Amino acid sequence: MCGIIGFVGRKEAAPILLDGLARMEYRGYDSAGIALRSETKGIQVRKSKGRLQTLSELTHGGADLEGVLGIGHTRWATHGEPNDANAHPHVSENGKIALVHNGIIENYLEIKEQLMKYGVTFSSDTDSEVVAQLLEYHYKECGNMMEAVGRCLRRIEGAYAFGIICADYPNALIAARKDSPLILGFSPEGNFIASDVTAILQHTRDVVYMNDGEIAVLTADSIDVFDDEMNPLEKTHSFVEWDVAAAEKGGYPHFMFKEILEQPEAIRKTISPRIRDGRVVLDDIHISAEEARNINHIYIIACGSAYHAGVVAKYIWERILRRPVEVTLASEFRYSQPLVDEHTLVIAISQSGETLDTMAALREAKRLGGRTLAVCNVVGSSIAREAHDVLYTWAGPEIAVATSKGYSTQLVAMDLVGLYLADLLGTIEPEEYSAVLTEMQKLPEKMQTYLENFEDTQYFASRYFNHDSVFFIGRNLDYAMGLEGSLKLKEISYIHSEAYASGELKHGTISLIEPGTLVIALGSYGPLFDKAMSNVVEVRARGAEVLAITTDAFREKMAKTADSVISVPDTHPLLQPTLSIVPLQLFAYYVALQRGCDIDKPRNLAKSVTVE
Ligand code: AGP
Repeated sequence: MCGIIGFVGRKEAAPILLDGLARMEYRGYDSAGIALRSETKGIQVRKSKGRLQTLSELTHGGADLEGVLGIGHTRWATHGEPNDANAHPHVSENGKIALVHNGIIENYLEIKEQLMKYGVTFSSDTDSEVVAQLLEYHYKECGNMMEAVGRCLRRIEGAYAFGIICADYPNALIAARKDSPLILGFSPEGNFIASDVTAILQHTRDVVYMNDGEIAVLTADSIDVFDDEMNPLEKTHSFVEWDVAAAEKGGYPHFMFKEILEQPEAIRKTISPRIRDGRVVLDDIHISAEEARNINHIYIIACGSAYHAGVVAKYIWERILRRPVEVTLASEFRYSQPLVDEHTLVIAISQSGETLDTMAALREAKRLGGRTLAVCNVVGSSIAREAHDVLYTWAGPEIAVATSKGYSTQLVAMDLVGLYLADLLGTIEPEEYSAVLTEMQKLPEKMQTYLENFEDTQYFASRYFNHDSVFFIGRNLDYAMGLEGSLKLKEISYIHSEAYASGELKHGTISLIEPGTLVIALGSYGPLFDKAMSNVVEVRARGAEVLAITTDAFREKMAKTADSVISVPDTHPLLQPTLSIVPLQLFAYYVALQRGCDIDKPRNLAKSVTVE
């Protein structure tokens, strides 16, 4: 996903922009650039395909460019291949206006054709350049940059976060957003725009989150925000709690490894403020007992790993709420005429809170009258702010593209919401309620126990990293958790794998099992352990090599059947996926390491997918 940063202040902007872009590298990109405005040189632009290092060398660390006003961008290509010309910032034909953009302009081709009829020439294939040229067209027409911005925003359709500078305005950085996140930062040295807080955290914690349709004008000493009719708005400031170190690698080889190890603490932060005197207390959730009783249908909408967390929650919620729970891919939900009305609760799970498919599905759920609740990690993110209620996972910044603590804290957050609702509805036995809560509070220490001794996981990864196809098989919660284990392996090691309900294998897919096929058998859900064992026998009879994941209590039994066994501490069966996923995260990590993959920035992937 693209990254935007902008600065206007009392210090040279170039080094600040380059540093901010470097702190957003984790978002995934294929080109980068900066543009500055100075009295003597007007608008200066440097941009290039490839890594930020190339751009830094091109500009001698920013020394070649002067000015205290500038914008920067890392591009994750959507329209136009990755190359120097398509990199941002884009400049208008007369060189007076520079723009960076995150999002997609859906009607860019018709606007481009109209501008070309007026004689405008283009230097790139991007939708973003069309906006820069359209700005020049309107600026020439009305002579006022803010008016030109307003006319331009009324003309374009699609998603955008813009940073704009103009040679005629020496102390003005203009920003606008619709569907793509943009944050405003206030500091004594000057003011900022950024796609996310990690880019500016070392300068300021005092931020404002822009909403859709808003336009901001930043100077060195002020930030003014307007609605789409240029009416001034009063915005609430937020204080960012994250510490800079938490957003940095801290000596670990990869962000992903660091974040896997951070999970016990992250889960502790998610859980502990919400369990008081033996009860789940969710101050952020405003669903009354009567409203809960009026819910007769629950949807969980999400993408990727967040969707997998939803699948785990489905098994748990249907058991403790006795209500139908549908888990639907957000990208499918929007186009499936979902059965949502005022009796439907819709849960949107999203670590970043910016995934466009999930945002669009959430808006559709609200349009249909559903009650919405977001489970997000990034405070103030778009999905968090648009849902009726939000439960934050408080996992801290997650930088690696492949989620780990984001997913495991989603699991426990969903456990908390499920218990909260079951308590409201009276659908869970008090004994089970307290048993689950007691075990939930032990999850961090039990996870830490495994994380203090995972050499066998690393060993098995070194033994199995050369397989080119892997099956994850399991039943019930093991199957649900296996979906995530399979995605982890695919997305960072590029090995094809699939999670399969092991009871279904015999209905066809078992024909793919042949001597040497690697099968990761998930046998940690106690109530179905014997079934898991029989499936291990079933695939081994066809020659499969079986690595089993189970719990300490079943380790010895499983070792009699599987070729290799990894075990984690036992907990309540409903909470077992939160522990059992960790060896699968580390297995994927070490396999990818063995295969020399770019673990924190896997090919083709972005940390938050803000395009359709
Ligand atoms: C998970 O490792 C991937 N990064 C991806 O599947 C991710 O979970 C998905 O894109 C959803 O992201 P979100 O939680 O930020 O909405």
